[in-house]
Amino acid sequence: MSKDFFKHKAAVYESDDNRVSNVDNIANTIIENIKLDRAMHLMDFGSGTGLLLERIAPFVNKITAVDTSAAMNEQLAQKQARIACDVEIVPVDLSVSAISGKFDGIISSMTMHHVQDIAAMFVTFYTLLNSGGVIAISDLDTEDGSFHTEDTGVYHMGFDRQAIAVAAEQAGFQDVEVVDASVVHKPHGQYPVFLLTAKKK
Ligand SMILES: C[S@@+](CC[C@H](N)C(=O)[O-])C[C@H]1O[C@@H](n2cnc3c(N)ncnc32)[C@H](O)[C@@H]1O
Repeated sequence: MSKDFFKHKAAVYESDDNRVSNVDNIANTIIENIKLDRAMHLMDFGSGTGLLLERIAPFVNKITAVDTSAAMNEQLAQKQARIACDVEIVPVDLSVSAISGKFDGIISSMTMHHVQDIAAMFVTFYTLLNSGGVIAISDLDTEDGSFHTEDTGVYHMGFDRQAIAVAAEQAGFQDVEVVDASVVHKPHGQYPVFLLTAKKK
């Protein structure tokens, strides 16, 4: 993703109530399904304006926000000081660039459908985790292509739950589970969202 697909969306990204309540639901599902503690260092993959990480922040020590969009990172930077844990913004495309460091967990919302090779991304996640580390990855269930009404660099029309679970297992993850997380309500349809959790043993 070298083009900034979110350049013209970033400033108004959080003005969509449906988007915000979807991330609320995702964050609550992560909190219910993952054991978080105040010593943890998480990565938020595709952190955007920080909607997910600011909800998870009170439960952990630090979140490294990884996003390729300069415009989205700028929105996050503006509220960085008000977030309830240490936040470091790393402006990279994780599909093409490596980042240093190891994490206790990786969270992500609504980003995997922008990643062409999700099998490779799960391998990257596995490499970036400490042993015992967890992933909590949320995205759309398979949809008919009507979710996106503009081009934001979409490679997948959602995911089949079993297929994405297999991709995580093939990267080495164990205890893979997929649960309901949310439903996005749009005027032209309802779009279910799942949360995949798994562990690096
Ligand atoms: C739909 S937005 C979701 C933002 C946020 N997680 C949320 O739920 O509000 C997807 C974000 O993922 C970022 N992104 C997509 N592919 C990426 C990649 N390969 N590496 C880093 N960031 C990526 C985009 O720039 C964008 O900010």
